[in-house]
Amino acid sequence: MVPLACRRQSQRMRLSASVLTAMASSFAVCRLHMRGRVVLVRSLQKADTFLQRSIGTDVAAAQAEAPPRDGSDEKDGCKSLHALQVERQEQAERSVLINCQSRTNEKKFLKYLSNHGDIKKYFFYESYGLYAVVEFAKRENVASLLEGAVIPSVSHESTVPFKSRLLSLRNLSLVDLSNQQSGLQCQPQTTIPINEFIQRLSKEESIDQQITSLTEAYQLTEENSRLRFLVCSLLKDIAAAYFPECTIKPFGSSVNGFGKLGCDLDMFLDLDGISGRNVKMPKSGLSLEYQMKRANSERAVTQSILSVIGECVDQFGPGCVGVQKILNARCPLVRFAHQPSGFQCDLTANNRVAMKSTELLYLYGQLDPRVRSLVFTVRCWARAHGVTSSIPGAWISNFSLTVMVLFFLQKRSIPIIPTLDHLRDLAGPADKSVIEGNDCTFVSDFSKIQLKSNTETLEQLLCEFFEFYATFPFSRMSLNIRKGKEQNKPEVAPLHIQNPFETSLNVSKNVNATQLDRFVALCQESSWLLQQRETNTPRGGANMTTAWGLATLLLPSQVAGIKSRKKRRREPASERIKGLLESLKNKNQPKTG
Ligand code: CTP
Ligand code: MG
Repeated sequence: MVPLACRRQSQRMRLSASVLTAMASSFAVCRLHMRGRVVLVRSLQKADTFLQRSIGTDVAAAQAEAPPRDGSDEKDGCKSLHALQVERQEQAERSVLINCQSRTNEKKFLKYLSNHGDIKKYFFYESYGLYAVVEFAKRENVASLLEGAVIPSVSHESTVPFKSRLLSLRNLSLVDLSNQQSGLQCQPQTTIPINEFIQRLSKEESIDQQITSLTEAYQLTEENSRLRFLVCSLLKDIAAAYFPECTIKPFGSSVNGFGKLGCDLDMFLDLDGISGRNVKMPKSGLSLEYQMKRANSERAVTQSILSVIGECVDQFGPGCVGVQKILNARCPLVRFAHQPSGFQCDLTANNRVAMKSTELLYLYGQLDPRVRSLVFTVRCWARAHGVTSSIPGAWISNFSLTVMVLFFLQKRSIPIIPTLDHLRDLAGPADKSVIEGNDCTFVSDFSKIQLKSNTETLEQLLCEFFEFYATFPFSRMSLNIRKGKEQNKPEVAPLHIQNPFETSLNVSKNVNATQLDRFVALCQESSWLLQQRETNTPRGGANMTTAWGLATLLLPSQVAGIKSRKKRRREPASERIKGLLESLKNKNQPKTG
């Protein structure tokens, strides 16, 4: 094994080649023991191509004297999730969200805001209107800005006098009244449609490049990540009316490294600072304690807190619509849409095990760039075929799918990632964590983790992933990433994936046999497609617009019913490819009427 470093494939789209060099040298500092040096060089070259291709594609240069647009100096390196959260939360507290008019004059707008202090970063985006996220240098700047803001004057309606950092730009002198198009560059907050994306993928030269390109296109951008923290911070201002010391943290795919643009925003109302947990009682002398209302259970407390906060969000929260209190769920939550950001939000409380699984997924994603790439690809593939859905139901969830990818990577003959038990064995005293009786301990110091020298390419891994699950004995076995081994199923359920921390729970309890069968059938089909020369090599001549490789896997499936699978397998390959290509052609036909 060669001591290498944190080779986290950069998510940042605007890093320059010099940053890449800096990344390479910082690898020596992080001291992660990873795969062979050759593989590192290859993966750096890949990252280089990826970065160069991305530079300047989605962000226009800021005007000459304007402050730097967001993201240009972003280098998260191998920060722990905790450090990243603290930094982002702090940024969010110094930020405001402003609804602008479509022809807002950027220069005048910035000049006006600068009267309240230095602007560190800003960007514009569109979501039911034009919005700007503006990060000031100091919190006082935001206070000064809010002091100058006025209450809206309404003639026929009334307003709830709740002031927040969600503002509207009203002064017409900041709007360009000439008929010219506004030069404002908006940061995309959604992914490109799958059909367009399939065509783009078909122009790549290898399946590895297709996978990298997919990860690059679908991962959360720097701006989207900031917006997520800002929405949490705005929500915190509402909750703080009752619990001034609370924080609201994003968890799940918003921060675990596997989030796709457009994914929901899972939020955790953290009251630990005031919950009486981890409180040291003075050994002697006088002390005072708060009188607090008692409740039957922690669950009952969580339900009543979420009920009240949910009510506030509903009645007072600017931009929060469609609030639903789902308090009887296993994990009580308040669901709503935050219109200005376009996020579907789930607010939970007392959900500390989910925070831990978020940290664990983040860690696995940081260990080797192939982890994130494979997860993104499988998630995208699953979504394209309706294996996953944004509507709750008997579908496989993205979280289950991610655990399936992790399990597969642990099961390689040379494992790419370690088991959770191994990560627990490497933990230091400060990592110890027991939540509601569940051992959630695992190492937080990345440099203690030694990885094995697995050199498989993304293409090989993707193909093997499909093969692995096409033949996995789901009827008997459960997936267990704590042990990195399949085990006999402890209960009857079509798909059993042990929850990594609450080990008595099945993460995929909701999945029914039909959905699992569909997943298996699709794995068989995709594994087969990746082994056909017609589909696994670039075709279509110079401009290469004919779908191939990963693009073929995202085309509508020919799996009509699972029963006919065997028959289909005997069809000549050319017939199947023809069918697939035909279906792409039909999908791309302009819609009439
Ligand atoms: N979670 C869990 N056990 C489950 C479901 C979810 O521990 N059975 C935790 C995981 O940490 C997960 C988070 O709750 O990441 C959020 O759940 P969910 O929104 O369903 O999944 P995401 O990972 O956020 O994926 P998506 O992009 O689909 O929202
Ligand atoms: Mg989520």
